[in-house]
Amino acid sequence: MYFPNEVERVLITEEQIKERVKQLGEMLTKEYDGKNPLFLCVLRGANVFLSDLIRNVECPLEIDFIRVHSYVGTSSSGEVKIEGNFPDVSGRDVLIVEDIIDTARTLSKLKELLLSKEPKSLKTAVLLDKPSRRVVKGFKADFTGYEIEDLFVVGYGLDCDMKFRNLPYIGVLKG
Ligand code: IMP
Ligand code: MG
Repeated sequence: MYFPNEVERVLITEEQIKERVKQLGEMLTKEYDGKNPLFLCVLRGANVFLSDLIRNVECPLEIDFIRVHSYVGTSSSGEVKIEGNFPDVSGRDVLIVEDIIDTARTLSKLKELLLSKEPKSLKTAVLLDKPSRRVVKGFKADFTGYEIEDLFVVGYGLDCDMKFRNLPYIGVLKG
């Protein structure tokens, strides 16, 4: 197994992720049965999660991608930047697919912007959540893979300065 020097330990194994993504897919199949939802992937981190997730959803759906910047290195810059145009979400059942919620600034801001374009419904699916780091109080995703402690994690799409996205597991970086 690929285990770079900078990684201290595995937090969530490839098998655990696979099982949980399958469960999330089953929940989404029920949620969106007969609705043709738009799954909106937040680049770049959620790309791997989206790819596995959609193959576990058994109903018609569409995908699109949005790019958001909120981080420099391992500490939050406190700023959320949205690049490019939003896809047309008006009248659609939209699911934002994100890798991780930390302060929740990114997702709360995205939700606000998308809601202004009047989607039919707007929900969120995240692989990971760090509830202890919340700045936007009370913010919760509609579908969550795992709640984790206040650790900086990488792998399965998540990066540290653009590295480690290709690890098949969620790992903790050395302090
Ligand atoms: P928030 O706006 O503070 O909730 O930050 C969400 C974004 O920060 C995510 O989309 C990630 O890109 C990044 N992020 C937060 N925590 C981590 C982490 O532990 N590892 C990698 N990226 C993270
Ligand atoms: Mg991200």
